[in-house]
Amino acid sequence: MKKEEKKKLPTHVAIIMDGNGRWAKKRLLPRAMGHSAGAKNVEPMCKAAWDLGIKYLTVYAFSTENWTRSDDEVSTLMKLLKDYLVGCIEKSRKNNMRVRVIGDVSRLSKDLQDAITRLEDYSKDFDGLQFQVALNYGGRDDIVRAVKKISEKVKSGEISEDQITESMVSGSLDTYEIPDPDLLIRTSGELRISNFMLWQLAYTEMYFTDVYWPDFDKKELEKALEYYANRDRRFGGRKS
Ligand code: IPE
Ligand code: IPE
Ligand code: MG
Repeated sequence: MKKEEKKKLPTHVAIIMDGNGRWAKKRLLPRAMGHSAGAKNVEPMCKAAWDLGIKYLTVYAFSTENWTRSDDEVSTLMKLLKDYLVGCIEKSRKNNMRVRVIGDVSRLSKDLQDAITRLEDYSKDFDGLQFQVALNYGGRDDIVRAVKKISEKVKSGEISEDQITESMVSGSLDTYEIPDPDLLIRTSGELRISNFMLWQLAYTEMYFTDVYWPDFDKKELEKALEYYANRDRRFGGRKS
């Protein structure tokens, strides 16, 4: 057995892909170029994750707060996202990758919603990397929508209030079929969660790096996995 195969690996890695703007600024380029470099980095990172033995990967592509950016920047991002999702059909086939979008897609353009439906349908039986793209995603919004689904069930009499459990809440979130992340990576040196998977990250290990997202490559991912492998995971219990 190779040495790496013995290492403790996360099942689910989540990434806050941050720093596209600063990557561009450092090169005296417009922010849009940073976003396009960032978008280009997604496929190689999916491949790298799969090669390194990761089963689930979730990336934060656009937050519920990102609508507050300039109209120009929002439309650049929406265009890149649409191109990415359309091109992803071929990538999902080539890489045997299942793709799902988490977030409130109802606020996205019809084009984008159609691209998402096509991609999710097309890739639903692929059993390689299980890849989630968080788009118009907010952890608080995810929880609010879950609460609404559960209240509907209470209102209709399908369940009673005392049947509400943590697993029911988990099962009502956008990530209902997906295990909670074991490792969260945030690039670009910011040390915050920025409204990403608030419920799901309850016991996730965190890795922060100064590297900007467009520069984050397989070597950097290996460093994050090395960090994870050396963590002593605890879930509130006491080791004897
Ligand atoms: C991350 O890069 C991409 C999105 C949030 C859509 P940023 O655009 O946040 O880059 P910085 O943080 O300004 O460098
Ligand atoms: C978080 O990055 C959202 C995404 C990476 C999509 P931001 O750059 O939007 O977060 P803040 O504003 O620094 O918290
Ligand atoms: Mg940022």
